[in-house]
Amino acid sequence: MPPVTFTLQKKDRNTGARLGLLQTPHGTVKTPVFMPVGTQATVKTMTPEEVAEVGAEIILANTYHLYLRPGADVVREAGGLHKFMHWERPILTDSGGFQVFSLAGLREISDDGVTFRSHLDGSTHFMGPKESMAVQEALGSDIAMAFDECVAYPAGREEVEAGVKRTSRWAEICLEVHQREDQAVFGIIQGGVFPDLRRRSAREITALDFPGYGIGGLSVGEPKELMYSVLDELQEYLPENKPRYLMGVGSPDCLIEGVKRGVDMFDCVLPTRIARNGTVMTTYGKLVVRNAAYARDFRPLDPECACYTCRNYTRAYIRHLLKAGEILGLRLTTIHNLYFLLKLMERIRRAIEANDLEAMAAEFYAKYNSGKI
Ligand code: GUN
Ligand code: ZN
Repeated sequence: MPPVTFTLQKKDRNTGARLGLLQTPHGTVKTPVFMPVGTQATVKTMTPEEVAEVGAEIILANTYHLYLRPGADVVREAGGLHKFMHWERPILTDSGGFQVFSLAGLREISDDGVTFRSHLDGSTHFMGPKESMAVQEALGSDIAMAFDECVAYPAGREEVEAGVKRTSRWAEICLEVHQREDQAVFGIIQGGVFPDLRRRSAREITALDFPGYGIGGLSVGEPKELMYSVLDELQEYLPENKPRYLMGVGSPDCLIEGVKRGVDMFDCVLPTRIARNGTVMTTYGKLVVRNAAYARDFRPLDPECACYTCRNYTRAYIRHLLKAGEILGLRLTTIHNLYFLLKLMERIRRAIEANDLEAMAAEFYAKYNSGKI
């Protein structure tokens, strides 16, 4: 048996939405799924027990960060990432491609890989497909991502085309050098917002027959409608029996619209990052709990939420914690935001099951965009 298998359980009648099961060496994940981000082998502020408690079934960690610190050898010696961080459920690692390419001015790209400066101490490093695979094998994630080139938006056709070519070549190398039998490698499709380049990338990457496919190079500054049209067009070029992972996307509307367009997996720093800035997502839209307006508001963050935070704490108290620089404030907003998004995914899965996704989405949007917080 391959280490990771995907079982398509149901297709929605009215949209491209799918219901599935992703089986990995560390357990089974119900899709569509949102993966909280644990860049540095921790979902910031939360213990793994709390991450599981809010409903996460799989988390993401970053090759780039863990390679620089503490280093792949330390994690290998610890017995792998699961043991190192005390999370025994599935883990997906991003390849470092995206992070390295985000280091504007600190990097140089060649056909072999990327020479870059560490954001920590300025030291020079090289990472290409071989290096990325070696690090991800040392980390021992259930799913490793191929090393790709993500081109920022807007970019010219030539630049995007060069990225597609490199991404295809690097994907082949990733498969050639990858050894671990208890780890799957997913390919990544690039091509920016150029329909023919997306098609070409999809054709070349799916020809390599990966057990799953990332859709990269989206949510990098393009209008949402453009992202949706790329997803619309891509659907017919992706094999039905393999999971599709829209990388770096996690706002409630993009999750719903992505699912409608056949996406099975998502990850994003959004819920955890905005939580630490004092912003929470609620049934009735975003709420900046840091604002003075909530100083004497003794209601929960979201009256319709059943998370630990909303069952026990008020807006006024959480605002006080955040203003006072107390760590608990960051923990409480993070718990709520992750619970909120993971509940949304559960609602989405139930709606697909009941052939009711469009009505569920309409109901969600009506409240979320109402501004009646
Ligand atoms: N995370 C968000 N977008 C991307 C992408 O295009 N490639 C990779 N490797 N990670 C991402
Ligand atoms: Zn809550």
